[in-house]
Amino acid sequence: MSYWNHVQDAAGMSPGPAVVTLGLIAAGLLLAIIAPTARRRIFVGLLFYLAGFGGLLIAAAVHRWGPGVDSSAYRVTRYFSLLFAGVGIINVIGVLIFRVLLPAVRLEAAAILRDLVLAAAYVVLAFTLMGRMGVNLTGIVATSAVVTAVIGFSLQDTLGNIMGGLALQMERSISIGDWIRVGEHEGMVREIRWRQTTIETRNWDTVIIPNSALMKGNVLVLGRRQNQPRQTRLWVYFNVDFRHAPGAVTAAVEEALRAEPIANVAADPAPHCICTEFRDSYAVYAVRYWLTNLALTDPTNSEVRTRIYAALKRAGMSLSIPAQSVFFTSEDQSRKERKEQQDQERKLAALGGVELFAALTDEERRTLAGRLVAAPFARGEAITRQGSFAHWLYMLIKGTAEVRVAVDGGTQRVATLSPGAIFGEMGLMTGEPRSATVIAETDALCYRLDKESFTDILKRRPEIAESLSQSLARRRAELDAVREGLTEQAKRQRAASGEQDLLRKIKAFFTLD
Ligand code: CMP
Repeated sequence: MSYWNHVQDAAGMSPGPAVVTLGLIAAGLLLAIIAPTARRRIFVGLLFYLAGFGGLLIAAAVHRWGPGVDSSAYRVTRYFSLLFAGVGIINVIGVLIFRVLLPAVRLEAAAILRDLVLAAAYVVLAFTLMGRMGVNLTGIVATSAVVTAVIGFSLQDTLGNIMGGLALQMERSISIGDWIRVGEHEGMVREIRWRQTTIETRNWDTVIIPNSALMKGNVLVLGRRQNQPRQTRLWVYFNVDFRHAPGAVTAAVEEALRAEPIANVAADPAPHCICTEFRDSYAVYAVRYWLTNLALTDPTNSEVRTRIYAALKRAGMSLSIPAQSVFFTSEDQSRKERKEQQDQERKLAALGGVELFAALTDEERRTLAGRLVAAPFARGEAITRQGSFAHWLYMLIKGTAEVRVAVDGGTQRVATLSPGAIFGEMGLMTGEPRSATVIAETDALCYRLDKESFTDILKRRPEIAESLSQSLARRRAELDAVREGLTEQAKRQRAASGEQDLLRKIKAFFTLD
């Protein structure tokens, strides 16, 4: 029997060891070209294989020239040679499966799973070889179960971490590049390993978190939502004192934030401003925006604050600082008169913009102004409600309002009122409940006049009743048109026919004749 026959004998393979060796080297080279990132593993695999092959050459020499096949030198050399060669082959096959075949069908196995499969293959190989060498496996399995139990007990924590790592990788609940918060730490996931996960914080620090902690506690994955871009909401607070209306502050700030894009601030949802609290001398506001680059919290906050500051300055508002102010005001007669004078002038100016009262003399207008009461409304508030009893006549001074009427269980817009408009006259002049609901479309300022003062004016100036009855008839026809679906022509006819009738009713109601 030649030496080469002894080598084949030791290898125990059906294709000759030379064929296997050449085939494996060729496959290794090919794989190294296809999967260059796995070159190290292929190289290590081939080295293992060649070491095993060298061992087989030695075993064959022991067979031929040494103590023979029954010697323990031969058996041990052969066992380890086959083990080394097997490990080498498993590694190369592993690269083929996990780096070439699975990615080709778009399956990406987690690193830990790959390692586990390889480890299982090594164990199966070792046991198979032992079995073929005639080693009593039952004994080994029994002892190894005891040893495993002992090791498992003493390595509880480590195993917990490993299982945690395994679950993290398999379920992909956290991935590299995610921003997470665990306890007091917040950072970007850099690495998920068997035992621990590493995050890098914005402070340039690295936090190493045992995987078992990630599995036991809550982990906040920042800015992640299914099928949505990654962005997280941030709050920037500021204070403005009570001289400025909340609606005006939020509008000025929102306009400035949305005008030109700010780097790393999402356009959708758009940044917005809300009033969060009233304190002793100022209101607290917050700008809320969605940050797209989660690393840049402070710089983007700063950018947003700069915009807020500039917007407030432009609008003639300034930031307020938490302060306790004590106002000493001497309530003397001249101050009171000055204040009343200013108020009266504001009302007179507002009346100048109301067409209905254009014919009033200066004296009449001054009397009327003295009876007006200012009533501000925030956007969305109802100024009058359909069906309620009418107490006031309204003049819209600032902002816009919409008139809505109830139709088929819902409401429908009838008209939009702008500054200078009079409303609430229908209920007041006919004694009927409010015919529609008027809602502030923006923050709005109204002046209102009570029924007595209004009656006074009508009695003194009956022509105002006439002019009002025209608009009243038209408005009523518009309401009917929405409620009953009238055509444009039918609406006009109804307005014309209703006018005289209304005027009569109004005169009777106010006993004007
Ligand atoms: P009043 O019915 O007292 O309360 C609701 C008010 O809405 C009503 O008076 C009118 O002043 C106003 N209004 C009703 N219909 C219209 C309309 N078509 N256009 C403008 N204002 C209207």
